[in-house]
Amino acid sequence: MQATEVSEELARRVVDAIGRALDVEIAPEDALIAVSTREGVDYQCNLAMSLGKRLGRPPREVAGLIVAHLELDGVAEPPEVAGPGFLNFVLRKEWLEQRVTALGGDDRLGVAPTAAPRRIALDYSSPNVAKEMHVGHLRSSVIGDAIARLLRFAGHEVLPHNHLGDWGTPFGMLIEHLLDEPPAGRSGIGDLNAFYQAARRKFDSDEAFATRSRERVVKLQSGDAETLAVWQELVDESTRHFNEVYRLLGITLTDADVYGESFYNPYLGKVVDELEADGLTELSDGAVCVFPQGFHNREGDRLPLIVRKRDGGYGYAATDLATAKYWTTERGATDLLYVVGTPQAQHFAMLFAVCRAAGWLDGVRAEHIGFGSVLGADGKVMRTRAGETTKLADLLEEAVTQAAAVVAERSELGADEQRAVARAVGIGAVKYADLSGDRERDYVFTWDRMLAKEGNTSVYLQYAHARIESILAKAGAQPAEAPVLLGEPAERALALTLLRFGEALRAATSGYAPHKLCTYLYETAVTFSRFYEQCPVLAAATPELRTSRVQLATLTSRTLVLGLGLLGIEAPRRL
Ligand code: ARG
Repeated sequence: MQATEVSEELARRVVDAIGRALDVEIAPEDALIAVSTREGVDYQCNLAMSLGKRLGRPPREVAGLIVAHLELDGVAEPPEVAGPGFLNFVLRKEWLEQRVTALGGDDRLGVAPTAAPRRIALDYSSPNVAKEMHVGHLRSSVIGDAIARLLRFAGHEVLPHNHLGDWGTPFGMLIEHLLDEPPAGRSGIGDLNAFYQAARRKFDSDEAFATRSRERVVKLQSGDAETLAVWQELVDESTRHFNEVYRLLGITLTDADVYGESFYNPYLGKVVDELEADGLTELSDGAVCVFPQGFHNREGDRLPLIVRKRDGGYGYAATDLATAKYWTTERGATDLLYVVGTPQAQHFAMLFAVCRAAGWLDGVRAEHIGFGSVLGADGKVMRTRAGETTKLADLLEEAVTQAAAVVAERSELGADEQRAVARAVGIGAVKYADLSGDRERDYVFTWDRMLAKEGNTSVYLQYAHARIESILAKAGAQPAEAPVLLGEPAERALALTLLRFGEALRAATSGYAPHKLCTYLYETAVTFSRFYEQCPVLAAATPELRTSRVQLATLTSRTLVLGLGLLGIEAPRRL
């Protein structure tokens, strides 16, 4: 079906009018159509001002010409020209009614899939083996998963890959430690952080152990079978732990998406050869390096991307070079996206520069989707009392416990449903707190704020949804495309909001900015509650009005469920 985006519809008509009136070509995205904040006006077009300047004509005259040539076909009233040359659009009631009614029969709520699907390799979560995941990995997992869902819904093909830190020098000491002290019984290694730290302590204090560890790295990298088996044990143990967190969080990554650093090991040699053959490398202190243009430290020295260390080993950067080449050349990705904390911004900028120089990014979009830190109440990067970075699993348990207290306050639900609801609310709150702010900014983690029932929180949205569902349960079933009538301003405001879903999704998807969807869902819930205050639904004056208002409630509920779902957040029917 035809997309319902109102701004697109207006943009198309304005662009056509400009073509006819002034013989100027404008792309519809540049038509500067925006939701109006003025009372009684739905949308405005701000193009006449810049266009007037460009053509050397008074903007009001340009605006008048646009109006004279507009073909509106019943979409809107002929716009009024305001101020310096704004066009103020008021949509026709009948057109709006017909558009909103049509949403009822559409699974996608009027949001058309993209006409230009891409094949997008998306690196997210990417924790390190033999270390517990911490809140830093929470953000990558939650933001990355929301982006994956948004891109898929938009009609793109997503190739998720979990770039596990499962290779490199620390594995020498970890394997030696595991061989020295095999874990007792079936319970496995247990606390991975403690295990890692014990190995580290031994490495730092015991010279013989350190030597054995270094030899073990060589064995690992040369493919020694016994070594690989122990290494695999460590990887499996960690993967079990990661999967547990993903399951708790509702993250869609599976074992099939694991492409750890070790996966790229066989490709590393070729990568160096190719960069050398291209004349891109230099020897620096015995290491093979590429110095991409434009990267310097404060002293003005050029910064290297180390491709092969002087001992012949490969590091993080080399693996990322192989990763980029693999997904573009072997897997045909048109986009490379990396959801990784902002401190790695320079690494990715240098990586992309080298890949571009090597010709691996021709026609490929590469982007680092950075994010800020999670801060504790003291404004510092969040830590537990022992001074370690907070463990993710503990944090999530805590979220569910806290949420149980919130939902228990006024609930007639049975024990099972109560537990499921507490989980949806608690996990939802943690995820929403992570998603609802601009991702590049740090944010402060506070239970009270994230579990608040008022304001832009998932709890507010979940309650709004459950309240609507309880109205709908009383209303009874009605046809999917029950006709919507828009007599009252509050009905009209809700209809306009519902028709903006596609715009909100597009903004959230193209900017990898889930917070734009959060803001939209919050506005939708607030607009619904105003409508509900002003317009009786079940007790509407006529059967037609009741049907229409129930239909508006249905569409609001469906928008909240679909929107929250794209953020990876559940919306229980009852709260
Ligand atoms: N394992 C890394 C870390 O915990 C993140 C990896 C991100 N992905 C990548 N391709 N470099 O910091």
